[in-house]
Amino acid sequence: MDIILFGPPGAGKGTQAQRLLASHGTPQVSTGDILRQAVKDGTPLGLQAKPLMESGKLVPDGLVIGLVAERLKRPDCKAGFVLDGFPRTVAQAEALEAMLSSLGRHIDHVLSLEVPLEMVVERLSGRRCCPKDLGIYHVTEAPPKTAGVCDSCGSPLVQRPDDREEVVRARQVTYRKDTEPLKAYYAHRGLLRAVDGTGTPDQVFARIQAALGRQ
Ligand code: AP5
Repeated sequence: MDIILFGPPGAGKGTQAQRLLASHGTPQVSTGDILRQAVKDGTPLGLQAKPLMESGKLVPDGLVIGLVAERLKRPDCKAGFVLDGFPRTVAQAEALEAMLSSLGRHIDHVLSLEVPLEMVVERLSGRRCCPKDLGIYHVTEAPPKTAGVCDSCGSPLVQRPDDREEVVRARQVTYRKDTEPLKAYYAHRGLLRAVDGTGTPDQVFARIQAALGRQ
């Protein structure tokens, strides 16, 4: 099954994509994670992406589309994938449609996680991440067993640089201007399903399973 998890910054896309990976083995394709790795490695892509990410702007379509096209060709995506953070513009959505069609595939579901603005701000301000295995935590809502330490690999957890309040605001503006219009794009194609993203991660996951017809 080829799935897009859609929603504003902090809606819970990464959290739910990791659950789909754990429960069904469907790989998570996160453009944010790929770009953060490029920044960490200091590659030419990372050098170009860093200032944009740290100011809440989008990385140019051409760069991101190329990354996704390469990633979706890998063998683990053959039986399906979960896109997290892509597409983010109409140009990216059109490019995705073309690349999938050239592989004889199409998107099966676009699940839009619906969460009120004040809740996403709270979620982002309390988010902590593992820089090594990319685990996602929250200081109160999804805390690690030992404060500040990743449950699975023991690395110290970090706060993402783009979770600073002023950058979160900029990311929300970018989302409304460039990304939210994709709801109409996918609704028009009969693919968009709204999923209530409030409640615990388990409750949201149960709604996602139901939307995918897995219950
Ligand atoms: P990206 O990494 O994709 O960030 P984002 O879309 O802004 O989404 P987030 O990762 O912030 O949030 P999320 O929805 O995954 O929430 P999470 O599960 O972590 O992109 C970063 C940047 O890279 C962009 O700004 C841009 O510059 C660039 N970029 C990426 N893709 C691009 C593209 N396609 N084109 C151009 N540029 C691109 O949850 C958040 C917090 O809430 C966590 O602490 C979690 O524990 C907690 N939480 C989750 N669910 C719940 C729940 N149900 N209840 C309570 N807490 C919860």
